[in-house]
Amino acid sequence: MYFHDTVKPGDILHIAGPKNHFHLDETAARYTLIAGGIGITPIIAMADRLKALGKPYVLHYCGAGRRTMAFLERVERDHGAALTLHASDEGCRLDLSSALSSLAEGEQVYACGPERLLEALGSLAEKWPEGTLHVEHFTARSNILDPENEHAFEVVLADSDLTLQVGNHQTLLEALTAAGVDVPSDCCEGLCGTCEVAVTEGHIDHRDLVLSRTERDANDRMMACCSRAAGKRLTLAL
Ligand code: FES
Repeated sequence: MYFHDTVKPGDILHIAGPKNHFHLDETAARYTLIAGGIGITPIIAMADRLKALGKPYVLHYCGAGRRTMAFLERVERDHGAALTLHASDEGCRLDLSSALSSLAEGEQVYACGPERLLEALGSLAEKWPEGTLHVEHFTARSNILDPENEHAFEVVLADSDLTLQVGNHQTLLEALTAAGVDVPSDCCEGLCGTCEVAVTEGHIDHRDLVLSRTERDANDRMMACCSRAAGKRLTLAL
């Protein structure tokens, strides 16, 4: 819509490549790919790439039943040798603990699927080396902003020489937008990483599903659509 309304013939557009917080590290020794339902869409691209690279991988594809599992024919055709199918209506649900009981050194696990699956994987991954598990969520936790339980905070925009107040009823992204500060956003649920902003001071209360444990601990960036200040003040490189 924006393009239709504003871009004219002859305008010069500056275009950057896509942001991707669920990218395949091609240097791992081997891979376990896990897809739940429509989570097969990013996983199938990873499987294709690993096959093309000649990397060892296994693929677990879970769904309610074969009839509703997207791309099943294609997955079976192209990745049949690596595939274990888990169709619930056939009584063969994925047992994560046994499927991942013996991860090889340098193995990485990539998963996309419903929250229950990713939460179970997250629990298992607490015992794995950092960087082993990579996930992509497609649903957010509900009630990211709960005004009853939030506190207001101050945001200093160091590069703009501007100080804003973020009320308990609004997100940082909303406060920035209201002040005319343009921060790109997409999902507004902490899932995509589009609204990432750099933080130079203050402690962050991370609520997104994008950053890894190490990235959170670095305390140097946050998702403006959902994350907040843990204390009274944050300074952003904006
Ligand atoms: S807009 Fe998607 S994480 Fe904030």
